[in-house]
Amino acid sequence: MRIAKTPAAIQRLARIWKQDGVRIGFVPTMGYLHEGHASLIRVARRRVGTAGKVVVSIYVNPTQFAPNEDLSRYPRDLPRDLRMCRAEGVDAVFLPSDAVMYPGRDAGGYSTYVVEERLSLGMEGGSRPTHFRGVTTVVAKLFNAVLPDIAVFGAKDWQQAAVIRRMTADLNFPLRIEVAPTHREPDGLAMSSRNVYLNPEQRAQAVVLSRALRECRRRVARRRIPATELRNQVMAMVSACSAARLDYVEFFDPDTLEPVARVGKGSRMALAVFFGHTRLIDNGGL
Ligand code: PAF
Repeated sequence: MRIAKTPAAIQRLARIWKQDGVRIGFVPTMGYLHEGHASLIRVARRRVGTAGKVVVSIYVNPTQFAPNEDLSRYPRDLPRDLRMCRAEGVDAVFLPSDAVMYPGRDAGGYSTYVVEERLSLGMEGGSRPTHFRGVTTVVAKLFNAVLPDIAVFGAKDWQQAAVIRRMTADLNFPLRIEVAPTHREPDGLAMSSRNVYLNPEQRAQAVVLSRALRECRRRVARRRIPATELRNQVMAMVSACSAARLDYVEFFDPDTLEPVARVGKGSRMALAVFFGHTRLIDNGGL
């Protein structure tokens, strides 16, 4: 498995592969890999085949964290991540540093950002106003470095995937975006690197996110229901958990991300819930 630490190094590798007609599948991550990431790597492998190459990037991108968020304590375990990548048959890991990705940022030496102006405004963008600007910027930079034919993102970050798909089309990146299903713990909690922050009480109550999804799915299975009614029900479910605080719950069209007033089969639901300082998100089709 190759390790590249600069955009120039991974681009060099990608160009050599491309000259030989080899397809590149890419999984961008912030590390602290878990089974959910492994499933994205397997999707990338399936798409490019055994003759293709799979690249994983591991980079905790500072520009997608607000100053009050968890950048400094974001979990990291590079040796374990590299072991997992090797075990999954990854061909190359792109491992840039802040100095390489944003040289001189604090001293005004870096000043270019990519902003998506529609899909990124609600939900995560409403709660974390600078988040998607950081995500689209770093993903554009990663695409330019890795030169993938296909990039795989998790459905757990549905809005992120939609924003990146739009950016990819709008900026004419010559690659396909694939969205792979959310991986869950046996009790339904969506896998996330941030789950490690939860204490036992919070962990036990965190299952409320997937329970809320299931309950809303059950209720709209037979008839359309006003979003306000479902929102009240989710608020009640979350309030019943002493360690939980609802950030938002939204019902929306899965493609446009526009809120829907009456929720039916085919609508999508997303929610964010705080457990202490830890903020968990989940979403699913109804
Ligand atoms: O989903 C993530 O882990 C991050 O937002 C991403 C896409 C790797 C960009 O930093």
